[in-house]
Amino acid sequence: MEILNTVAALHARTEMWRRENKRIGLVPTMGALHEGHLQLVRAAAQECDVVVTSIFVNPTQFNNAEDFQLYPRLPEADATLLAPAGCTALFLPSVAEMYPQPTVLRFDFGALERVMEGAHRPGHFNGVATVVSKLFHLSSPHRAYFGQKDLQQVAIVRQLVADLSFNLELVAFPTVREADGLAMSSRNRRLDAAARTVAPLLYQALQQAAVVVQEGQATPAAVLEAAQGVLATEPTIQTEYVEVVDAQTLQPLAEWQPGQAVAVCLAAYIGGVRLIDNVVVAR
Ligand code: PAF
Repeated sequence: MEILNTVAALHARTEMWRRENKRIGLVPTMGALHEGHLQLVRAAAQECDVVVTSIFVNPTQFNNAEDFQLYPRLPEADATLLAPAGCTALFLPSVAEMYPQPTVLRFDFGALERVMEGAHRPGHFNGVATVVSKLFHLSSPHRAYFGQKDLQQVAIVRQLVADLSFNLELVAFPTVREADGLAMSSRNRRLDAAARTVAPLLYQALQQAAVVVQEGQATPAAVLEAAQGVLATEPTIQTEYVEVVDAQTLQPLAEWQPGQAVAVCLAAYIGGVRLIDNVVVAR
């Protein structure tokens, strides 16, 4: 596996692969890799001829300076995991390399970003769309792989691909969980022992909500109540939001439509670490 640190090197490499008719898979990450990332890389290796994994803790998508500073950075350890998973090239740029000057372009995804992560992290999806667009341009992937733990991010990137006519297939992979249900996340590394013990309650709250979604007579309000009831059993969980939304539009639901796919999404702080999770349930 080669490590590319510059935009020029990545561009040159992917242009060469394109000339050789190689199918390129891209797995964008911010590093501190876990099994969820590695499943994306393995899938890309199976479905494409070459795989580019990017590791870049993107400052423009952080609305909180401390969160950016504390985000785990383990590039050497990450690199050792990528080659066995089938990665061809690791793109590991500096901030100056990715942003030689501040970006002026601004993205606005309308209603899609006025809820949940977009509502609670102003500017977050502008930063995501900026860096993902750059990565798409630089690596010209045939397929790009994302995890569904970031459900709203997947929806935003899908909109980005459609609106800007990126000629690629977006592949969304189910959330990978620890044995106790906690969704794998790079931020889990920041949980101390007490917080790690409490963290599986997030998924338990979502499971409880999913059971209620499937009950014939239940309302979205009853679903919210079920999730909030579980979260309220643990005083160290500070819930930022729990939402019951349409799984496509991500707009909050006051009532159900027949056959609707419903997502229950939440964000919460545990021991000072902000975690998100979701489940998608058919009614
Ligand atoms: O999901 C992430 O890790 C990031 O938001 C992404 C897609 C790599 C963009 O920085």
